[in-house]
Amino acid sequence: MQKKIITTGDGSPSLYIDQLNETYHSKHGAITESDYVYIKKGFAHWLGLNSQKAPRIFEMGLGTGLNAYLSFIFAFKHKIFCEYVSVEKFPLSIHEIQSLKMKNALPDTYHHHFFDQLHEVSWGQTLSQSNFLFKKLDQDFFNVTFDQCFDILFYDAFGYHAQSEMWQEKALQKCYDLLQTGGVWVSYCAKGSVRRSLEKIGFSVERLEGPPGKREMLRAIK
Ligand SMILES: C[S@@+](CC[C@H](N)C(=O)[O-])C[C@H]1O[C@@H](n2cnc3c(N)ncnc32)[C@H](O)[C@@H]1O
Repeated sequence: MQKKIITTGDGSPSLYIDQLNETYHSKHGAITESDYVYIKKGFAHWLGLNSQKAPRIFEMGLGTGLNAYLSFIFAFKHKIFCEYVSVEKFPLSIHEIQSLKMKNALPDTYHHHFFDQLHEVSWGQTLSQSNFLFKKLDQDFFNVTFDQCFDILFYDAFGYHAQSEMWQEKALQKCYDLLQTGGVWVSYCAKGSVRRSLEKIGFSVERLEGPPGKREMLRAIK
């Protein structure tokens, strides 16, 4: 699908897909949204609740690699060991990644090499950098299986209007099954039907203040 590069509210870039009328990140700020929703309300929240400091994180939708990069920085700063697995059904090409120039907007220039590495590493291979193990899978979320459950799940699918199947019970049940008891599911989404489905499946759901431009977002604990 044809993608257009856009500049979001905090100056960081993102991609827009015409056919889906959908962006990869919030128009109000790509980095601001990722950092708030997934790092602050997901990763940091989990860390505050757990004395064991070695989370396994699963990301639905690698996209530009922004969430993975910010997680690496967070893990590095907090000196914790982290395993990060991300699945992507429609990988961006290296040309698309380079044209986006996300690196120019990323914090911590000292660690920018990790952003390059996460895109260069082969699908299915593990990249080990400091205390961070990163693996990306070029698979459909609905088909992935793992031997071990995850502690944190970043649910970063396209919005309901663009990809409604990702917000139905079948997909959310899959999230539940991928998590440990006590595991944290987090997403920018605040849709009522999604919240009700999460609750029906067995999650304990919180409505949190959203990132800039969004009133609310959801966090759910298994
Ligand atoms: C909102 S974007 C994610 C942005 C990304 N997390 C980032 O930091 O750039 C949604 C991503 O999910 C991917 N995706 C959509 N359906 C999928 C599926 N069934 N399985 C795996 N990935 C999927 C899309 O290709 C896209 O990269």
